[in-house]
Amino acid sequence: MALRTHNCGELKTKNTGQSVKLAGWVSRNRDLGGLYFFDLRDRYGKTQIVFDKSEDLAQQARGLHTEDVVLIEGSVRNRPDGMINRQMATGEVEVTADRITVLSRAAALPLSVEDDQEPNEELKLRYRCLDLRRPRMIRNLEIRHKAMQSVRRFHDEQGFLEVSTPFLIRSTPEGARDFIVPSRIHHGSFYSLPQSPQLYKQVLMVGGIDKYFQLAYCFRDEDLRKDRQPEFTQIDVEMSFVDENDVYELGEAMMKRLVKDTIGLEITTPFLRINYFDAVNQYGSDAPDLRYKLRIRRADEYFKDSGFKAFESVLDNNGGVFGILAEGKGNLSRKEREKLEESARDYGLAGLLTVPFAEDGLKGIIGKLFSTEKQTELCKYMNAGSGDLLMFAAGPVNDTLIALGRLRRQLAQGWDLIPDKELKFCWVVNPPLFEPDEETGGLTPVHHAFTAPIDSDIDKLTTEPEKVICRAYDLVLNGVEMGSGSIRIHDPEVQRKVFKAININRDEANKRFGFLLEALSFGTPPHGGIALGFDRLVMMLAGESSIRDIIAFPKTNVASSLMDGAPSPIDDEQLAELGLKIIGKQNNKTA
Ligand code: AMO
Repeated sequence: MALRTHNCGELKTKNTGQSVKLAGWVSRNRDLGGLYFFDLRDRYGKTQIVFDKSEDLAQQARGLHTEDVVLIEGSVRNRPDGMINRQMATGEVEVTADRITVLSRAAALPLSVEDDQEPNEELKLRYRCLDLRRPRMIRNLEIRHKAMQSVRRFHDEQGFLEVSTPFLIRSTPEGARDFIVPSRIHHGSFYSLPQSPQLYKQVLMVGGIDKYFQLAYCFRDEDLRKDRQPEFTQIDVEMSFVDENDVYELGEAMMKRLVKDTIGLEITTPFLRINYFDAVNQYGSDAPDLRYKLRIRRADEYFKDSGFKAFESVLDNNGGVFGILAEGKGNLSRKEREKLEESARDYGLAGLLTVPFAEDGLKGIIGKLFSTEKQTELCKYMNAGSGDLLMFAAGPVNDTLIALGRLRRQLAQGWDLIPDKELKFCWVVNPPLFEPDEETGGLTPVHHAFTAPIDSDIDKLTTEPEKVICRAYDLVLNGVEMGSGSIRIHDPEVQRKVFKAININRDEANKRFGFLLEALSFGTPPHGGIALGFDRLVMMLAGESSIRDIIAFPKTNVASSLMDGAPSPIDDEQLAELGLKIIGKQNNKTA
């Protein structure tokens, strides 16, 4: 027989007069002119408990501590008119207690569990059992749960099989470092934890599984940020006999369902598809935030023979000039514009030319150097009208675009241009297959080495690999990469050419990816897929800014767990069993 008859979030006026038993944690108390109350809290909400039946009982209640776990037996009654609390689900009623049973005492608390008193991050992670009691954390885990169920239902209905892939795998790095697990049975050999199930899902396609999905755990030893954890979850999908459009359609339908099931919003599909180069050129980012304008426009030709020496010399050195239009910002003071120019320098730009568009034309140096006609042409090109502000920066093309992309984000935040409730998805498609690898001086894949080149570029793999465009796509939400995927290579020869372009020779390829190459040789359906960062998605849906807030037991930014102290040294006996010896000093960063 359950201890309680109801939970703490469900009593309403329809329960008035009933005898009830509620169990939960002692929360906020109030002592009003001798009348003693506290809220009893559980995952479902809070119920006001009043102790007005006997002085003994009130004394017993006063002796309780915040977060003691108690069982309250009593009866439900309507609150007096002035005491009704419409913010609370149970705010029209209260329980007048007949009996208190203490189920468990709480020690002095290192942090408050109320939502309005946010503890610092270290305390939250150290005392996660308390932090999880806060209504916000409970709500976040509920959203996460709903998202998981929604993803599973959706794929099940679409005929996908959820297949579990192994955690202990051969090391096949995908960009980040692997987490390594020593083998006790095979001394000197190691498993690694998967950075994603990429190769396994491709083998599943060769195996004829046709439609695979998995809520997959992934492990990456990389620098952590607010949207990165060393272990995280992907919605991992792979399909046979498909092209890009099939993946876009599936991704859009999944998102539509997921957003509806978790936060009840209807989103519009299809999502905008932007070519990778357009994204970089117009937004200074391969993950553009489309919720605000501030688009970047290349303005070389207006500055070529303009007499504006600083920009002319950049153009002479193969650089570019880029403009951004800030609507309605023509009236910024000189000081405010100077501040803008300063922050542009913080982002690595050599400077920022700010040009107000006043009633009588463009101001400042451009107003002086450009003829009225040229001013009109420039304004038309930039879509500017009187009252707007034009901003220009010049420099090496890629660096300047990236810096402007950052500046764009900062301006939008500073000027409050971001509608925070809006969800703006887009696909960013067809990036280059490779990019320069700063460490080796060679090439490295932009997505990963199993991504197919576009058909017309296959020959370039051997001649000009840096020019090859590939069949990859990213799903971006509000300027954050939510997922990425591609149509894969299903021809072992093309796969070998890609390995060659990134300097992995035949022997090395066989050693590292032999099982995939072998599988590809046994009749491989054309296939493709995507992986969405599940934690990032839930973070955005829950309106949080850190994925730690939607993961029950996350790691700190140095990949440690403050709750259980992982990672921790192991004893000599365990080391010997694994055939391992620690050399050098042990380095334990805990913060
Ligand atoms: P990729 O490496 O781009 O692709 O990862 C897919 C998505 O996973 C999320 N993600 C992370 N989330 C939290 N913490 C991290 N450390 C982290 N790293 C990545 C991101 C990212 O977009 N196998 C390919 C997918 C494919 O080609 O199908 C892959 O893993 O949201």
